[in-house]
Amino acid sequence: MDIIVSASLLACDFSNLAFEIKRAEDAGVDWIHYDVMDGMFVRNISFGEPLLKSVGKSITIPIDVHLMICDPIRYIDNYADLGADLITFHYEAADDPQAVIDKIHSRGIKAGISIKPATPVSAIQPFLKSVDMVLVMTVNPGFGGQKFIPDTLEKISEVRYLIDQTERDIRLQVDGGVNLETAGLLKESGADTLVTGTYAFKANDMPEAVKLLREIV
Ligand code: DX5
Ligand code: ZN
Repeated sequence: MDIIVSASLLACDFSNLAFEIKRAEDAGVDWIHYDVMDGMFVRNISFGEPLLKSVGKSITIPIDVHLMICDPIRYIDNYADLGADLITFHYEAADDPQAVIDKIHSRGIKAGISIKPATPVSAIQPFLKSVDMVLVMTVNPGFGGQKFIPDTLEKISEVRYLIDQTERDIRLQVDGGVNLETAGLLKESGADTLVTGTYAFKANDMPEAVKLLREIV
């Protein structure tokens, strides 16, 4: 599977969002990663629908929405209406994960399921028959710029094994602390979709940073 690089807007300059989106697109990223936090599922509050309504028009590449919110089924229609191409929700936040997956699919978009570092891989195994992506968090969700948690590499390998067993087309995304030191290890463990916030947006030369990341994986 080709490597996908998804740029997390959480690390960009919010005062100039349309410009930052263009900067990421010009730097050659594949997707825009849109981190929604509600202050409940995670301690931080980031941004939500009104912002995507404004900047969605500026985005010409797929929009990868990462919902870090309680009871995510409530918001699937809203993000589908706003042009999300893929919606990922947290296993830990949903009473009925299968219902969330089905809801996302009913809107004709791709569904991802995510687990926090402390959640065992076995939790998401029943959903591999229907999801399009698994997101293994490599930091505790809530904030950008955190240090990568090395223990998550083993979980990535486990998920890779389970995905390969299904023979389905499922992407394996990793999110948190992705940079030139960690990307190679993540790829070796089986990740094929890398979220990058701080590494890409805070680089002196974003196109060069994205290029170097791709060269490593
Ligand atoms: C963390 C978010 C990430 C975050 C990644 O809760 O889901 O998408 O922005 O940022 P970096 O790349 O800075 O770790
Ligand atoms: Zn994210």
